[in-house]
Amino acid sequence: MFEALTQRRYLMPFKAARLPQQVTDVLVIGGGVAGLRAAIAASEYADCLILAKDTIEQSNTWYAQGGIAAVLQPADSYELHIKDTLSVGAGLCNQKAVELVIREGPERVLELLTWGAQLDKEPGNAHDLAFTREGGHSYARVVHADGDSTGKEVAQTLINTVRSRESIRVCANTFVIDLLTDGGRCLGALALINGQVNLIWAKRTILATGGTGQLYRESTNPKIATGDGLAMAWRAGATLQDMEMVQFHPTTLYVAGSSRTLITEAVRGEGGYLVDRTGHRFMPDYHPMAELAPRDIVARAIITQIRETNYTHVYLDVRHLPTAKFRARFPQLSRLCDQFEIDLSKDLIPIHPAAHYMIGGVDANEIGQTSLKGLYAVGEVACSGLHGANRLASNSLLEGLAYGFRAGGHAGQEAAGEAVTVPPSLEHRIPPSMKTELDITDVTSSLRSIMWRNVGIERTGDRLIETREIIAFWSRYVMDKIFDPAVLGPAAIPGWEIQNMLAVCALITTAAYTRSESRGAHYRLDYPARDDEHWRLHLLWRRPLETPIPEPVD
Ligand code: FAD
Ligand code: SIN
Repeated sequence: MFEALTQRRYLMPFKAARLPQQVTDVLVIGGGVAGLRAAIAASEYADCLILAKDTIEQSNTWYAQGGIAAVLQPADSYELHIKDTLSVGAGLCNQKAVELVIREGPERVLELLTWGAQLDKEPGNAHDLAFTREGGHSYARVVHADGDSTGKEVAQTLINTVRSRESIRVCANTFVIDLLTDGGRCLGALALINGQVNLIWAKRTILATGGTGQLYRESTNPKIATGDGLAMAWRAGATLQDMEMVQFHPTTLYVAGSSRTLITEAVRGEGGYLVDRTGHRFMPDYHPMAELAPRDIVARAIITQIRETNYTHVYLDVRHLPTAKFRARFPQLSRLCDQFEIDLSKDLIPIHPAAHYMIGGVDANEIGQTSLKGLYAVGEVACSGLHGANRLASNSLLEGLAYGFRAGGHAGQEAAGEAVTVPPSLEHRIPPSMKTELDITDVTSSLRSIMWRNVGIERTGDRLIETREIIAFWSRYVMDKIFDPAVLGPAAIPGWEIQNMLAVCALITTAAYTRSESRGAHYRLDYPARDDEHWRLHLLWRRPLETPIPEPVD
């Protein structure tokens, strides 16, 4: 079925001896929270190179709004945060991962303050920090910055720290095409640097390439989130886990002509309501936690309400909240609403759900090691087991900090005592394509539309099969192409991205079809119940398998 996708080990042909080569101790692919934190930890022991495909500011991290969840207040407890995480994770969390991230969380957040992070203050609270609540949390434990710009502050703090370390080099605007492997070990990466394909040999490689939001037509993620890391890890032979688990955020601004900007869940945490076109506040009809129910429940309730009212969207209502206080608490959202002449004291804010977070990913243990020797995976690209079948709000910046620290420290120490391995020869040949010319923009937008329609918030077996067949068909003529940067220049990048997107979409769709139950973020209209007897299982993928392997939860 997916022959075209499984055939190719590398996206482009190369002969190592003919390419420029670089060497580093630790290679970090990705400059978001997880990659930056990993590099800082690795730099204590070894030299480190960070690669990012756009500017260092273009990451999901930069756009994070609501905050970071951590147990910092005396009346809160690790046990409560663990319980909330497990409960939202719907039976698929790895208890060990949950415990370690939550218990190490406060230290990781407080060290950001020592590096200069300006988190919002409320004198009298623990550490004088302001806290908010988000969906699924039983306590107000989410710290934030500049109201709703937490990610920017976290990223900037880490970028400044990285820049202060001599042993870290950053190479932005560098597209990583594939991981290099030889003898079952990851040895670095093949990357496009300044228009030239380079080989980067590394003693340890840390994959921190973030999410996959761009696989869907409606998405909160920036353009960089095309799932490259998942596809390259899969091609290199690493095990992937729970690819059917994609999280949809309930509230993005729904205004024609505007990008689908996320409206933080903290708006509901601070008292915002969800109402339909008739003005009915519907969330109490769906869940006792109303607007603060776990986000899969809120996203599905919105879709149902949209259907029942025969409309295109629902609304956030903040008219009952004091406007000046609201504007001070959510400055970014207030500015956005101003741009569309939405008066927060009088008007409703039109919203719609969108693809937000990739829960599944590269299977990684408690120090981020993957099944492929020499390769670690951290942050959104990884599946550490923290989120299970659904992610608790504001747990992912925390995960990036915790696993970045762990993996980076381990990789740095291991690399410090070793010599770099460069195989005597490495090459990959691909026969030239005989098939049709390609309109990449058209394939990409068609893929994003079909994923949103058929592999989104609500799924059914027949639509999933149809989508698999379509992806297999498109793959036949997209996957045989060689996007040669020597000929195409930077235009090769969208070609590699669509090849990666097709691979990741195939895995998500097949896993979603295989899991014939509903659990957490995965909702099957034809199997609406959670089925613990048959499905308290992870689904694992390893190339060249075309169907996932079930594995019991730890
Ligand atoms: P990212 O921050 O996405 O970084 C990925 C990096 O990989 C980038 O530097 C990118 O250039 C690089 N990369 C990707 N592919 C390649 C390639 N082929 N070659 C080279 N480099 C590559 N989480 C919370 O906990 N709290 C929040 O309040 C919150 N709000 C959010 C709001 C929005 C709008 C979004 C989109 C997400 C939000 N999240 C939030 C989720 C959270 O931001 C992300 O899960 C997290 O930041 C991911 O961090 P990361 O380091 O794994 O990846
Ligand atoms: C938000 O601010 O609503 C996003 C939080 C998250 O995704 O964790």
